[in-house]
Amino acid sequence: MLLWPLLLGAASPEHALESIGKAPFGRAGDQAVDVYTLTNAHGIEVRIMTYGAALVSIKTPDRTGRFQNIILGFDSVEPYVAGVPYFGATVGRYANRIAKGRFTLDGKSYQLPVNDGPNILHGGPRGFDKRIWTAQSQRTSRGQELRLTYVSAAGEEGFPGELTAHAVYRLSDDDTLAIEYSATTTAATPVNLANHAYFNLTGDPQHHTILEHSLRINAARFTPVDATLIPTGELRAVAGTPFDFREPHAVGSRIGANDEQLRFGRGYDHNWVLEPATGGDRMKLAAVLTDPQSGREVEVQTTEPGVQFYSGNFLDGKPVGGGGTVFPYRSALCLETQHFPDSPNQPGFPTTILRPGERYQETTLLTFRVRK
Ligand code: GLA
Repeated sequence: MLLWPLLLGAASPEHALESIGKAPFGRAGDQAVDVYTLTNAHGIEVRIMTYGAALVSIKTPDRTGRFQNIILGFDSVEPYVAGVPYFGATVGRYANRIAKGRFTLDGKSYQLPVNDGPNILHGGPRGFDKRIWTAQSQRTSRGQELRLTYVSAAGEEGFPGELTAHAVYRLSDDDTLAIEYSATTTAATPVNLANHAYFNLTGDPQHHTILEHSLRINAARFTPVDATLIPTGELRAVAGTPFDFREPHAVGSRIGANDEQLRFGRGYDHNWVLEPATGGDRMKLAAVLTDPQSGREVEVQTTEPGVQFYSGNFLDGKPVGGGGTVFPYRSALCLETQHFPDSPNQPGFPTTILRPGERYQETTLLTFRVRK
């Protein structure tokens, strides 16, 4: 008898918490969009909106204790609706590219709508980044949490099966933001969900590019691509190439090298094959990004097999978001933890096919630190 309140407490640690802020963020068409604010004991603040289940801002301290936003974003949803390249968004149903929008599954051929030259990118013209997700906030024993859900109808953007997708963001007092994706389906379908945050750890993307950020990627191989950024199928060693980030390198130190892969990507826009964790743990180190100026650092760990490092080559200083805001060339970079591009057409890559009765589940951890 004495035990039951304890057990009850342990079994249901979750209850609504006022301090997880919720506020209106504008409208997408006739639908209202909300923004949620998660904060931790050290003042780190993460904002997420229901449009695209997108990260809107992440505020972390520099080495003097000054808090600034370290990702590209806007203060209301309207610029996102007007058009931004996946700022902070949850991209799906299939993050990255599928060649010519085509694949065959269980003997049936599918044609998806293409939106990136000859290929489909990030789930098609109206991917998960352009959908409104339902949201529920709660406090758990592990931190403040926002759980977002989107049900993608069978046939949406050409994909088979109704897919129920969840994105959970959890900010804990160890200064880690966990991003957990899960999904179930009514018919076999490719699934690849990824967050598309654009980092600039200086907090001032208008005036500082990311070329002096130091980057380490825990990968001995990457997947070289053709001129349309579709992998050739090869897993190529990074040793002796500008793709070797096993030791930290400034992003800009080799980006202009005379290298065919860098030409195809207009810089870095490639998938790295992450080294497995020792002991068979699914969670492993993916990358460490450091800004020597501010001292801010983000460590990325993930259960995913790959990370697409994109050096902001399409940010070109032209206005985005329908207003006058410009983000200069290479003023931010993405570290998209994910399965490899074009996996549905690459039998040698880890599978991305989810079947009824199975559960897709992937977690990425962003840990925020300061280097003295
Ligand atoms: C991904 C792609 C890039 C680019 C950006 C969005 O990172 O790999 O080629 O399309 O998204 O601009």
